Amino acid sequence: MAEIIDITTDRQRAIDAGCGVLREGLPIALPTETVYGLAADATNPAAVARIYETKGRPQFNPLICHMADLAMAEDYATFDPVSRALAEAFWPGPLTIVVPLKPESGIHALATAGLDTVGIRVPLGFAGQLIRAYGHPLAAPSANTSGKISATSAAHVDADLGDKIRLILDAGASDVGVESTIIKVENGKLRLLRPGGLPAAEIERVAGTRLVRPKTASATIEAPGMMASHYAPGAAVRLEATDVADGEALIAFGPATIAGANTARIVLNLSETGDLAEAAANLFDYMKRADASGAATIAFTAIPDEGLGEAINDRLRRAAAPRE
Ligand code: TXA
Ligand code: MG
Repeated sequence: MAEIIDITTDRQRAIDAGCGVLREGLPIALPTETVYGLAADATNPAAVARIYETKGRPQFNPLICHMADLAMAEDYATFDPVSRALAEAFWPGPLTIVVPLKPESGIHALATAGLDTVGIRVPLGFAGQLIRAYGHPLAAPSANTSGKISATSAAHVDADLGDKIRLILDAGASDVGVESTIIKVENGKLRLLRPGGLPAAEIERVAGTRLVRPKTASATIEAPGMMASHYAPGAAVRLEATDVADGEALIAFGPATIAGANTARIVLNLSETGDLAEAAANLFDYMKRADASGAATIAFTAIPDEGLGEAINDRLRRAAAPRE
């Protein structure tokens, strides 16, 4: 049974307890502005190994290393001018930048899957404060069983991993609701490795160049964690639905009424007004609720592929991908 500490009422106790568990080499569930992370000391191999064990990850994927600020990040990795400009513009925030590791950086190879690069992000709010107090970078994938829907509340984490971890720090529902955007500067090109909580257009505006996107979602060799089937609910997922069959769950977007909605098992709307930020924040929670309704299929209506819609559609395509 995990202890759950509310960071809004008990901030200092949350930091002290979090640092204590991390020092023992154990992971904690840590709220970030994107999703809840399962965080452990990135410099401690046993601690990082426990992340994989707790999530039941089948293979070692490179994990994002979370830092308190850019100065801390520069102790571990080398920043080219474009990466530094993006870090200065968007950190703290939902952007992960893949940069070359410094030799003898201290970040363990288990956290980077042996790559000579590291994905770094500076989370906004409480998580950054906890990392500063702890003093070491934290490797943190989303706090959910491997392949399943990411957690955007302490209750999600508790239901999935509560009997496997010691401590859940509770900051309420995650503000952004989808994972960070991942980019990498390579051979003078700025590459989008994963769409996420920071819209691509904002990155392009600051960088002054277009992002190079992978040809297909499954071709992201540089992002080995980006397996096609991911974020999978128990139910099948049907995308771009224009109607809903008897007994299906419906997750709609925008004000339009959908034929068959009156006989759906459950009807949820990511954002009645068509606000993509609201939709991203609701996405994983609504997927879990639709799944819990017992429907065999969840039908989603179309979501525009602009702004945060790019990340939402990426997650939905993975949720709908054939399972192994
Ligand atoms: O919002 C987020 O990014 C959340 C919260 C907890 O911060 N974290 C997260 O971490 O989504 P994770 O471990 O699930 O994402 C790791 C992904 C890998 O699957 C891979 O795609 C990419 O980040 N990645 C990490 N290090 C990389 C590297 N050196 N080169 C390329 N891709 C890397
Ligand atoms: Mg994940």
